[in-house]
Amino acid sequence: MALTNKRIFITGGAGFIGSHLVSRLVDHNEVVVFDNLHRDALRFAHLEGHQNLTFVKGDVLDFAGVRKAIEGSQIVIHCAAIAGVYTVDRSAVRTMEVNMLGTHQVVKAALEVGVERFVEFSTSEVYGSFIHKGKEDDFTPIGPIGESRWVYAASKLASEHLSYAHYREDKLPLAIVRPFNVYGPRQVGDGAIRGMALQALRHLPITLYNDGTQIRSWCFVSDFCDGVLRCCENPAAVGHAFNIGNPQGTATNFELANLIIRLTNSKSEIVFKPHPGPEVELRVPAIDKAMTLLGYRPTVSLESGVSQAAAWYRDNYDAVAGKR
Ligand SMILES: NC(=O)c1ccc[n+]([C@@H]2O[C@H](COP(=O)([O-])OP(=O)(O)OC[C@H]3O[C@@H](n4cnc5c(N)ncnc54)[C@H](O)[C@@H]3O)[C@@H](O)[C@H]2O)c1
Repeated sequence: MALTNKRIFITGGAGFIGSHLVSRLVDHNEVVVFDNLHRDALRFAHLEGHQNLTFVKGDVLDFAGVRKAIEGSQIVIHCAAIAGVYTVDRSAVRTMEVNMLGTHQVVKAALEVGVERFVEFSTSEVYGSFIHKGKEDDFTPIGPIGESRWVYAASKLASEHLSYAHYREDKLPLAIVRPFNVYGPRQVGDGAIRGMALQALRHLPITLYNDGTQIRSWCFVSDFCDGVLRCCENPAAVGHAFNIGNPQGTATNFELANLIIRLTNSKSEIVFKPHPGPEVELRVPAIDKAMTLLGYRPTVSLESGVSQAAAWYRDNYDAVAGKR
């Protein structure tokens, strides 16, 4: 059920996840990457000059630019966003603009073109600070204004509601993915595994917030992309939101740091400091909906995924360290 011979428009295709989707799709489809290069992970995919790849430098807030580049596309995968807790904290206005208003520009352009599928990237942050086996129709609490962490979740959730309204009213063939802590090679932006791996590789202290008992489910990027591609292909995905993650990759941050130290033969110490803002203490998805409707099955263990990620950070240390 692989996608072939489609024209696929990927916003944010130069980012971490987008670049992996491009790699998976470009040999058998025409891929248009639309990205303003706020981040550039695509350069690590070494696809320069690929005959099926077109790169358009542009901003999703620019409707005319999006409309021109999306022409002729059958599938839209909308990954472009301001992402990462620290990046969002530095630029809250930009986050609301890009993630909410920017998404709307891409939706409007997709409606004009009449695409077959529109896959929108939301976030697991919409479930708030404490969620165990969270399901897609659970409540999505948003923290108070003034706590900048929730700007990101609010921007994504508002966008989900707006796009869903277009699904209901204008037949936008929408599928929403809510990623749960995706990691792996080419994650150049904020990310706990990126940060810890870079510290471990230089035997520097690894800093954990509070007592390091925050719990996350880590999903390796190849498993995650598999879930996204199923949302692109499977007619059953339309009109739904899906948790895409790996509950079996669940660990505390303290366990994760120790795993990274072991896998990199590091001499790093673990140090603790107070978390400066609101924290997500527990976040584990239920993925039953994606398993049942889409046949999604994550397969990469945390140990295997972290060793692949750590090996990549070792090989690309100088290009990644200090940038996010
Ligand atoms: N990585 C995760 O664990 C995770 C978790 C939850 C949600 N997500 C979502 O998944 C998507 C991809 O995340 P990622 O980890 O690959 O992040 P990323 O930052 O690596 O990729 C985002 C891409 O969007 C581009 N971009 C930003 N603003 C833009 C604009 N105005 N116009 C055009 N392009 C723009 C960036 O240059 C970048 O290439 C995002 O929507 C993010 O919110 C990711």
